[in-house]
Amino acid sequence: MPNYTQPITDLIQQRFSCRKYSREPIPVRMQEKLRSLMTEVSSGPFGTSMRFDLITAEGQDGKALRGLGTYGFIQGVSGFVVGATGTGQQDLEEYGYRMEQILLAATDLGLGTCWLGGTFTKSAFANKIALEDGERIPAILAIGVIQDEDSARNGVMRL
Ligand SMILES: Cc1cc2nc3c(=O)[nH]c(=O)nc-3n(C[C@H](O)[C@H](O)[C@H](O)COP(=O)(O)O)c2cc1C
Repeated sequence: MPNYTQPITDLIQQRFSCRKYSREPIPVRMQEKLRSLMTEVSSGPFGTSMRFDLITAEGQDGKALRGLGTYGFIQGVSGFVVGATGTGQQDLEEYGYRMEQILLAATDLGLGTCWLGGTFTKSAFANKIALEDGERIPAILAIGVIQDEDSARNGVMRL
């Protein structure tokens, strides 16, 4: 369970699906915190095995990430959280629970996030996380520095 610095109910209320990012790299200190949290996760709350990884743009080079494919729905993003789950009776719920914990930790750091369950190229992300037999990627997170909160909150997709 992550140690949030704010009440979880405040984080839930602050958070929105951000689709416009500033292209700045995620500060290294934040990357370290998120990676450290992810290394603690090896299973869901009911014991299904799962793992998560943070993929970030190197320096200012967002091109490599753009090549991963989000069908133009996400602008200026500088990272993704990709996860892979094994099979279990409630694997999707478990995966969602763990991903949401990571998402709220990112919100606590002031970062923007957007769940992507449909608008991403599965094969590209499968490659990034070295997906194994018996695993699948139900959804990923776009993650990055929010460009302008008002404009990001009022984007067409979100409305
Ligand atoms: C499991 C899941 C999958 C989602 N997949 C996508 C997606 O593929 N593309 C996208 O633009 N938004 C996706 N979303 C974000 C929803 O569209 C978003 O929750 C909705 O726009 C409500 O906005 P809000 O989260 O800012 O309140 C997904 C959300 C969830 C929970």
